Amino acid sequence: MSENNLSPILRAEHLSRHYKVGGGLWQSAATVKALNDVSFELFAGKTLAVVGESGCGKSTLARQLTLIESPSAGHLIIDGIDIASADASQLKTLRPKVQMVFQNPFASLNPRKTIGDMLSEPLLLNTELSAEERKARVHEMLKTVGLRPEHYHRYPHMFSGGQRQRVAIARAMMLQPAILVADEPTSALDVSIQAQILNLFMDLQEQLGTAYVFVSHNLAVVEHVADDVMVMYFGSTVEYGPKTSIFEQPLHPYTRALMSATPAIRAENRREKVKLIGELPSPINPPSGCTFHTRCPYANAHCQSAVPELRPVAGRMIACHRVEEINSLTQA
Ligand SMILES: Nc1ncnc2c1ncn2[C@@H]1O[C@H](COP(=O)(O)OP(=O)(O)O)[C@@H](O)[C@H]1O
Ligand SMILES: [Mg+2]
Repeated sequence: MSENNLSPILRAEHLSRHYKVGGGLWQSAATVKALNDVSFELFAGKTLAVVGESGCGKSTLARQLTLIESPSAGHLIIDGIDIASADASQLKTLRPKVQMVFQNPFASLNPRKTIGDMLSEPLLLNTELSAEERKARVHEMLKTVGLRPEHYHRYPHMFSGGQRQRVAIARAMMLQPAILVADEPTSALDVSIQAQILNLFMDLQEQLGTAYVFVSHNLAVVEHVADDVMVMYFGSTVEYGPKTSIFEQPLHPYTRALMSATPAIRAENRREKVKLIGELPSPINPPSGCTFHTRCPYANAHCQSAVPELRPVAGRMIACHRVEEINSLTQA
């Protein structure tokens, strides 16, 4: 959320991504609306956390932001340049500015390359540095991410999961990106290692001023790292705003249900329990009206038929017809 008069390093405007599925001999094609009309702003050195259950579109959003895919609709503006209208040379300078760290460090590192080679590669492809200079940069980065000089010549299989994630983070950071998108970067790690990796993310951000989009299904992780939080349900934003507002007073029934279900969240934020009913609906057959109505304990007939707009409520954005009523807020 805007907090100064600088311009955001990343702006997403009404991003949508739809996938065609099926369409075989016996089946007609269907559309999965994985991402619908998502907008946000991200400033240098800040972290936007994107949360929601598995299947709500978090990785789809991450793939649009890192230019791995192109959105079906909407605009992505990186460092003032709209990707949709950027020319080849603008894209070439933009790509290294956005890097990604994936959930599984076992799958994301090439088993045939040494750590040194892997970390040198982005420098080889994108800079004019000499072999000596590249080596020096890689050693500097190994130290920054808490690895040792002798790790330079080792292969990924010789490392633990936590160390591998350090390598993946180092690789993403080699070109000093303005934006790092991390998709569940601690979810595959032992609980004891997760906090160390989160702290590494925080230290790097402080040193380098990188903006993060931090994707997680775990609200406890988000509370630790976020400045702003965006809660997604079924491809859409249901609540978006400063972390402090959302954690002190979660208002959307879905956010409240997520908080109720996260034992590590401070007790005072879990006061009134909200329990979800039913299952996540099929993405091919989304519910009418508010897509959350099939699982919302507060849904009424209006929620079944009318799509709620994302609108400002109590210092954040909310998409819920009944948010004032169910939280006993006075309507603006
Ligand atoms: N390439 C694709 N083709 C068809 N459907 C997809 C594709 N990628 C994602 N989806 C669907 O989009 C929805 C969101 O998926 P995803 O972004 O992976 O969610 P999350 O990361 O929050 O678990 C899911 O229903 C998923 O099955
Ligand atoms: Mg995912």
